[in-house]
Amino acid sequence: MRREGGGSSGLHAKTHGQPLAARVFACLADGEFHSGEELAGALGVSRSAVWKAAHTLRELGATLHAVPNRGYRLHAGSEALDARRILEQLPPGAQECVRSLETAWTVDSTNSVLLARPNPPFGTSEVLLAEYQSAGRGRRGRAWVAPPGGSICLSLSWSFREVPQELGALGLAIGVCVLRALRGLGLEGGRLKWPNDILVNGRKLGGILIELRAESAGPACVIIGIGLNVALGEPLLAQIERTGIPATDLIASGMTHPSRNTLVAALLGHVVEGLKRFENEAMRPFIEEWRAADALRGTQIEVRTLSGSVSGWAKGIDLHGALVIETPQGIQRFISGEVTVRPAQ
Ligand code: BTN
Repeated sequence: MRREGGGSSGLHAKTHGQPLAARVFACLADGEFHSGEELAGALGVSRSAVWKAAHTLRELGATLHAVPNRGYRLHAGSEALDARRILEQLPPGAQECVRSLETAWTVDSTNSVLLARPNPPFGTSEVLLAEYQSAGRGRRGRAWVAPPGGSICLSLSWSFREVPQELGALGLAIGVCVLRALRGLGLEGGRLKWPNDILVNGRKLGGILIELRAESAGPACVIIGIGLNVALGEPLLAQIERTGIPATDLIASGMTHPSRNTLVAALLGHVVEGLKRFENEAMRPFIEEWRAADALRGTQIEVRTLSGSVSGWAKGIDLHGALVIETPQGIQRFISGEVTVRPAQ
């Protein structure tokens, strides 16, 4: 481990000015054991300060192992986010469009931060990642919980020249892009649950939150938030399950050593490419893949909307991204709602 500030371009030099928990996290992100003494020496603080920082990391949900005589170690897969490493791996088509890429230790919500910024120029994107969100947001007003190092909290803004006609289906197209990225890195069995969930073995691996900032004239800017569980650890998986959402992460889904920076580069590559195509072709380049990955088709479901709930058989999605359900009253289509699968009777 290098001492802070000891190298001209070392990772640790970049953590100056950040809270000690962030700096301890950066030191531990190599996945190796480091003793309290070693960390204290490298960071120029006392051992008790390191102990307190480790406590803070645990409070934020990080899976931090402490073994007597060996020290602290972070859960596998906790590689620190590194803008340089992400940019190096971005495909050229995405490199041209990404005008800024930042990794923060903590923000309230990466979507909220980008929503508060001006629109990027047409056809370009600003990207923000955070190790930890103090007020991460999910769909339908839910909180999004993600521990430092254990997930990907990624938002990107994108300006369309004008509001695309099928904007309501954008989340479905992005779902296909996320799945393409994950499959490209070896994930098997990924499925999509309408409207915006990524599942593995019926459990939620990730979700997408799309927010629109349309101005009366000029471009429409969307903020696309992607949350992906990488290594949540058993206690947090169990905690999420108690809220009624069975969850999983990439480690439990069979990706043994996911590099978060490689994963982010792959996600951005596919999402930026997908946005360019969506603008001109709407759902057409995505619909077949979406249908092939549809986790609901053929199951009995209940859709809850603001005006009530409807039960029936899921029949897939139409070209506009609406969910099609066969009900005793006939075929019904939904453009928004919350779906639960009804147990087979
Ligand atoms: C959902 O399935 O409910 C959508 C979850 C979206 C979470 C991501 S994490 C990055 C971005 N920032 C947020 O506050 N939310 C999204």
